[in-house]
Amino acid sequence: MNNDIERVLYSTEEINATEDRLAKQINADYADKKPLVVSVLTGAAPFSVDMFKKMTCYAQLDFIDVSSYYGGTESTGTIKLIHDLKADLEGQDVLIMEDIVDTGRTLRYLVDLLGERGANSVKVCTLLDKPEGRKVEIEADYVGFVVPNEFLVGYGLDYQGYYRNLPYVGILKPSVYSK
Ligand code: PRP
Ligand code: MN
Ligand code: MG
Repeated sequence: MNNDIERVLYSTEEINATEDRLAKQINADYADKKPLVVSVLTGAAPFSVDMFKKMTCYAQLDFIDVSSYYGGTESTGTIKLIHDLKADLEGQDVLIMEDIVDTGRTLRYLVDLLGERGANSVKVCTLLDKPEGRKVEIEADYVGFVVPNEFLVGYGLDYQGYYRNLPYVGILKPSVYSK
C-alpha cells in the first residue's frame, strides 16, 4: 500500500500538531457552548475522532454518511445521503468535521441540509482545503492545511475505498488510478 504513494505531504506528527492548533481555536470558541460534532462519513472519521478527543467542552458526536465520489478521483456532482444523523438539531451548535473540501459540493449540501433543521449555528472544520478544486462558493471556518491540486489519500481519504488507514496524507501515484 505504501508503494502506491508518490510523496507524503503531511506526516502523522504534522497532522497531530495541526489538530492541536485547530482544537485550541475550537475550544476557545465553544468554551461556553455544547456543540454537536457532525462527522461526515466515511472520509472524516479518523480526523473527527481525533478532534473530538481534543475537545474540552461538553460536546456530542454524531455521524452522517454522504458520498459523491464513489471511490473515484472525480466528483460525480451528485451528493447521495446514505445515512442520516440520529440527533435532533433544534437549537444545536453544529460543528461539521470534514477531511477535505474540494469542489465544495458536499459541504454546500450539508450546510444547507443541516441549516434547515433549526440549528442555532452551523460551522465547519476541515483537515484539508483544496481551493483550486472549488466549483461552488463555500469556505470552512477552521482549516488544517491548504493543499495543492493533486489526488490525495490517507488519513480517511480514499481511492476505491482503500488507503484510508494510512497514518499520513500523501499523493497517490497517477499510475495507480490511470490503469
Ligand atoms: C469526499 C471527502 C469529502 C468530499 C469532498 O467524500 O471525504 O466528503 O468528498 O469533496 P467535494 O468538496 O468535491 O464535495 P466521498 O464522496 O469520496 O465519500 P467518502 O467520504 O465516503 O470517501
Ligand atoms: Mn467524504
Ligand atoms: Mg471518497
